[in-house]
Amino acid sequence: MKIASILENQKIEKRVAITPEIAKKYISLGFEVTISENYGSHLGISDEEYNELGVSTSNDEKDIIMNADIIVQLGLLNDNKNSLLKENQIFIGVLNPYENKEIIDNLVKKNINTFSLELLPRITRAQSMDILSSQANLAGYKAVVESFANFEKAIPMMMTAAGTIPAAKVLVVGAGVAGLQAIATAKRMGAIVFATDVRMASKEQVESLGGKFLTVEGAENLETEGGYAKEASDDFKNKQEELLSETLKKIDIVVCTALIPGKKAPLIIKENMINNMKAGSIIYDLAAIQGGNTAHTKVDEVIDKNGVKIMGESNILNKLPTSASNLYAKNVFNFVSNLYDKKNNKININLDDEIIKKTLIK
Ligand code: NAI
Repeated sequence: MKIASILENQKIEKRVAITPEIAKKYISLGFEVTISENYGSHLGISDEEYNELGVSTSNDEKDIIMNADIIVQLGLLNDNKNSLLKENQIFIGVLNPYENKEIIDNLVKKNINTFSLELLPRITRAQSMDILSSQANLAGYKAVVESFANFEKAIPMMMTAAGTIPAAKVLVVGAGVAGLQAIATAKRMGAIVFATDVRMASKEQVESLGGKFLTVEGAENLETEGGYAKEASDDFKNKQEELLSETLKKIDIVVCTALIPGKKAPLIIKENMINNMKAGSIIYDLAAIQGGNTAHTKVDEVIDKNGVKIMGESNILNKLPTSASNLYAKNVFNFVSNLYDKKNNKININLDDEIIKKTLIK
């Protein structure tokens, strides 16, 4: 079984899908591993480090792709390389199938087994493969670090002979995986943390991390059976706006993480709410790439509205690509192991397996 990965487009992606630790695991399974030359050099991983483990490196990416049984990446290949993929090959990544429908449809038409890992079901057996959780957790942490770095005051309360500095107040909007890590990180740094979500189950989780949950009074619980959020009604949105408008007047830093799967991110922090915030406040919008949770989010720009800075990036994981790659590569390895029939040394696309069925694009 031959598994391969080529260098991602470095302008948009610094993570890698095969780390040395994981290459070793593929090799112990009996796989041959091939990657592009300089595959990990931007992360301080030399070709020699891979070669010593038994990984082949090549500067002929066309050859790497055409000779592989399985290709593992972060995103889709560049357009001209997609045409190199052949029938029955397996292509695995985080492919954003709603945005890239046309390209993916073409791969499927060519009978390339295309798996998109953001479609993994949130079931216990899939936890070790759950790229959404592993990456969202890091994103939540880093969003706090980035916003604190841009905040021009101290975060924890400090009592000194020269006077007292109050603790910064942080609001986390959306308490899923990223939001809960944001709460934990902000608490560890000494901030006072508030959080809100449309799923009532998140109240207990927020409180267990020491956050104060802001409940939209009289609202129904907007949680699907799968544990995700449903789109809020106008009534909910109005009540949430009222609650947050008041709260935001005293908040220093907002970390936005609210998402609804398959939909544009909900607009939660509106223009009038931003106008009421104190100058010097920071909003870090992790939902930026899905349209943003604020009225002024612009991807990869810092917008200044009367002294309130609004930030959001296309790929915050590029700011900790080593940690993100370590977890991503392990998630992908666990996914590939589940596809692999060791006894017969072949890939078994068993559609009775919910994990395989849900991630395979048809
Ligand atoms: P997500 O990334 O889709 O959304 C982030 C958060 O935004 C969610 O908590 C959502 O409820 C919230 N949200 C949406 N609209 C909102 C609004 N208008 N106002 C405030 N908040 C809003 O969610 P994520 O992090 O992927 O988690 C979704 C669910 O999956 C959670 O229930 C989580 O516990 C569950 N989960 C289960 C796993 C497992 O069993 N293997 C692993 C990871 C997560």
